[in-house]
Amino acid sequence: MTMEKPAETLISLRNISFSYKMRKGDRLQVFDNISLDVLYAEFIGIAGPSGCGKSTLLRIMSGLLKPDSGEVYFRGRPLNGPDPRISMVFQNPTLLPWYTVIKNVMLGLINEKGLSEKEKEERARTFLDMMGLIGFENAYPAELSGGMRQRVAIARALVSHPDLLLMDEPFSNLDQLTAITLRRELESLWLNQVLPISSIVLVSHDIEELVEISDKVIVLTARPSRVAGTVKIDLKRPRSRRSQEFYEYVDKIYTLLS
Ligand SMILES: Nc1ncnc2c1ncn2[C@@H]1O[C@H](COP(=O)(O)OP(=O)(O)O)[C@@H](O)[C@H]1O
Ligand SMILES: [Mg+2]
Repeated sequence: MTMEKPAETLISLRNISFSYKMRKGDRLQVFDNISLDVLYAEFIGIAGPSGCGKSTLLRIMSGLLKPDSGEVYFRGRPLNGPDPRISMVFQNPTLLPWYTVIKNVMLGLINEKGLSEKEKEERARTFLDMMGLIGFENAYPAELSGGMRQRVAIARALVSHPDLLLMDEPFSNLDQLTAITLRRELESLWLNQVLPISSIVLVSHDIEELVEISDKVIVLTARPSRVAGTVKIDLKRPRSRRSQEFYEYVDKIYTLLS
């Protein structure tokens, strides 16, 4: 059964089941008939217990993993593999150590056959600037702090102007201050519509972070994972963690998690 999704849906997971093949032919069932939608211009947060399948979900959304059954629709069409219009940022930035910062960012343009090296370099520089890395173009990853390496990874994810940015706990290996700074910057770039993307899906175990930044938070259950609930965050931005409403949302999500 193929069904076109409505135009306002950027990516749609319909009745997805997924299992990992284990040794001895066993299967680890991660999803059993899960469905969810990400609309255009939406910031979605994803929370769920450790091991429930959050990273697996992002890999399915990115086309890196194929579900056992069900369909993924991206911009109304079935997604059958990785798509240059979908970018991913991982917990640990996966940079090539023997490439300079700017060359690492230019790797995000590897599919753009129409661009000259010079144009790629200019595009990369724009995003290095956005991420506060001007002056580090010719540095090597090993010369950078963890926070700066993650900035490079984000620049590389954005340089291709994807429609969808998937972020898998991108701040959780950074020290707290670095994490807060980077998240705030990203949020303000998002709110000011400077980022060349339509929608973001952010996986985090930091519930306050998700309430601060997301339009909606999707809470997953333990495996086999289902949607325990979707919480729409109706708070004005920028959001203050000091308000009572803020903590009512946080409590709501913790309740769904427990
Ligand atoms: N490549 C793999 N092969 C087998 N099992 C895996 C693989 N990757 C993850 N798993 C298992 O699948 C489940 C979901 O993993 P994951 O998506 O990483 O969860 P989360 O990101 O929510 O912590 C976990 O039990 C994990 O051990
Ligand atoms: Mg994970």
